Amino acid sequence: MHARRAMLIGGASAGTLALAALGYRAWDRGVWSAGKGLAFAPWQDWEGTAADGVKRPIRAAVLAANPHDTQPWLFEVGDNVIRVFADRARNLGTFDPFRREMHLGIGAAIENLAVAAGASGWTAEVTPVDGKLTLSPPDTPFQVAEIKLAAVPVSRHALLPAILLRHTNRGAYRADQPVSRGQQRHFLDLVASESVRIVFIEDTSARRELGALIVEATAEIIADQQMSVDSARWFRTGRRDIGEHRDGVTADTSGLSSLMVAAAKILPELSAESADKYWLSMTRETHVATAPLLGILLVRDRLDMRSAIDAGRA
Ligand SMILES: Cc1cc2nc3c(=O)[nH]c(=O)nc-3n(C[C@H](O)[C@H](O)[C@H](O)COP(=O)(O)O)c2cc1C
Repeated sequence: MHARRAMLIGGASAGTLALAALGYRAWDRGVWSAGKGLAFAPWQDWEGTAADGVKRPIRAAVLAANPHDTQPWLFEVGDNVIRVFADRARNLGTFDPFRREMHLGIGAAIENLAVAAGASGWTAEVTPVDGKLTLSPPDTPFQVAEIKLAAVPVSRHALLPAILLRHTNRGAYRADQPVSRGQQRHFLDLVASESVRIVFIEDTSARRELGALIVEATAEIIADQQMSVDSARWFRTGRRDIGEHRDGVTADTSGLSSLMVAAAKILPELSAESADKYWLSMTRETHVATAPLLGILLVRDRLDMRSAIDAGRA
């Protein structure tokens, strides 16, 4: 009797210990701290105050979409001028060999800055620095734009609230929220330049063909060892990793359900190879499979993609 009770007590404390260990693991891996802590502080005080002066709209700039959340930008603040530099050491290596994605991310940051400037009482006149993308450029910072700011009465751009709300969603597309013709037209109208064109592909067979190309390209990428390594370098796992780096991609935005995200955090870390396989299956079975339409951005018609799958074939 005595011995049995001792066993029960021993069993109970082993169970409590296991639970405590699981709880600690869950806490340490950030199961309850998604979106919290220093890494996410820029979303709390993104509008700043008048005391920030010309620096104020930079708070909005750094919330922009950018490749693998590398945040490849630097801002040099002068008298009513902000010079924007590509922080080229923060790159994706062979995953972005010409740093094309890097420059797109910096462009998104400049766009946010220009949108937010009005709310701080500034106009922003952006002058990009002319130049060409080259293969594996040096890691030294490189100036990409100059933004002149002039004081004007405060005005709020219609897209200002979207800067805070926007984020990358890697889940399935929602069939109950189709992109209307009007929204498509609105997107097309946003592209004012003759050298840049958007094509939307809705036609089922054209969409299937382009979808297959996207999946094939993803498979080629993950088959390339160096590309896989250069991408995985920016994966952040666990509370400490995220707090220390304050950049990179995390399980929280992987498109998994909250339960699966918690499990992914608690279980041993995925190898780069397993993460790549997950990416490929998400691309094939979730993104391409559920996208009601696909959009292609054609820049100076160089990315022909057989004339954007015969211009939507519609
Ligand atoms: C040029 C560019 C390319 C991107 N490529 C991908 C991609 O291939 N797959 C993906 O899941 N996210 C991609 N993203 C999204 C980024 O990973 C995301 O913007 C970044 O992690 C910051 O997260 P947020 O958009 O939620 O603020 C891309 C973003 C940019 C600007």
